[in-house]
Amino acid sequence: MDKLRITGGTELHGSLDISGAKNSALKLMAASLLTAHPVTLTNMPNLADTRFLSQLLSVLGVEVYWPNGTNECRLNAETLSSTIAPYDQVRKMRASFNVLGPMLARYGHATVSLPGGCAIGARPVDLHLKALSAMGADLLVEGGYVKAAAIHGLKSARIVFPFVSVGATEHAMLAATLAKGTTILENAAQEPEIADLATCLNKMGADVSGAGTSTVTINGVESLSGAQHAVMPDRIEAGTFAMAAAAAGGDVTLQGVPVASLLALNDALLEAGVEVDADIEASTLRIRRGQTPLRAVNINTQPYPGFPTDLQAQFMALMALAKGTSIIRETIFENRFMHAPELSRLGADIAVRGQEAVINGVSQLYGAEVMATDLRASVSLVIAGLAASGVTDVNRIYHLDRGFERLEEKLTACGANIVRLDGAEG
Ligand code: EPZ
Repeated sequence: MDKLRITGGTELHGSLDISGAKNSALKLMAASLLTAHPVTLTNMPNLADTRFLSQLLSVLGVEVYWPNGTNECRLNAETLSSTIAPYDQVRKMRASFNVLGPMLARYGHATVSLPGGCAIGARPVDLHLKALSAMGADLLVEGGYVKAAAIHGLKSARIVFPFVSVGATEHAMLAATLAKGTTILENAAQEPEIADLATCLNKMGADVSGAGTSTVTINGVESLSGAQHAVMPDRIEAGTFAMAAAAAGGDVTLQGVPVASLLALNDALLEAGVEVDADIEASTLRIRRGQTPLRAVNINTQPYPGFPTDLQAQFMALMALAKGTSIIRETIFENRFMHAPELSRLGADIAVRGQEAVINGVSQLYGAEVMATDLRASVSLVIAGLAASGVTDVNRIYHLDRGFERLEEKLTACGANIVRLDGAEG
């Protein structure tokens, strides 16, 4: 199995381009199932997860044109050969579950495997199912599959989510575009990726308003057309590189950043003593840190616009090096501290108590062999490895390949000493 070998202790200097957002791209790809016309997505991140979803779409009969190494993907779902998404495809990546609503809305039936839990928590899909059921879908959960039917089409509904869910908001929005009448989603998630999805759907002829606020209104239409849409830039990738620069020290400018969507992180970085120059117009974020020690900062993860759970592990790596004690509370997922014991292998002093991690900053981390069990946890180890003295080997990097495009190349361009070793080496 491949690993990354990082020789740490080098400052990062230079500039980095931010790729398209994985978590937006996946839902935009699912949107292609709503129409018989081609949807072309530009700024598509070349990632294991997006490639994986394109394979599932092919299995369903979508014509996928996405040459290797390119960032433009054309999806044509003129006719589907199947409306069944099998276990193997959905189990490996939860976002695959979001093909259910679009197929149901367009064809009146779909069968999709339940995704099951994952390393960061149980992650049920009850809110997705309640939303589809409120829109008139008959749902039968049997043998690990959701069999959904709406013979006369989906109908409008007023859906009040009991708590905020990104996936359920997107799923309901996708399905409601072709439902009869006006669907209103309340207590909707406000993540920027939801607004990106709405923009693309509206280009396809949908009538969605309010996306990005807590109330989303969707006036259903008869059918949707094709569209071309540029995937929004990845705020989580940008935030990750910002913290890599803050942890290793140096001066890095991130280009093509959705700056306005990173305010919670920027505040936390400023409080930690990192110099942050955010330019919303130029879409750049410049991160500088010299010899000044980092200060400890407490954070709680929250739905957008709060501090994102997808940046929590990276922030913990940073706080491992801060002066003082910081407390990180994870409020979104019940098991998202798996990076803590691995960071401790590098010399961090972290105690996990339920949903809270207490980090006593140390003045130095030391390289070691580590591994991680999910995407963001893995990249937190990369950040720690960049700041640590000596050599850090990060194992199981297939997690990283799910969500970071050309990670080593981008970091190397800023002076990092990071190489990929195949399983046989090292
Ligand atoms: C999305 O997951 C992202 N994934 C996650 O990113 C991200 O961490 C999460 O939103 C929160 O921002 C994608 O967009 C592909 P939720 P999602 O529904 O939609 C519970 C990454 O690393 N819940 O907002 O699955 C759920 O268990 C990934 O890129 C229910 O109980 O997250 C969680 O505790 C990881 N029932 C909370 O709600 C439901 O029906 C929020 O989950 C749905 C969710």
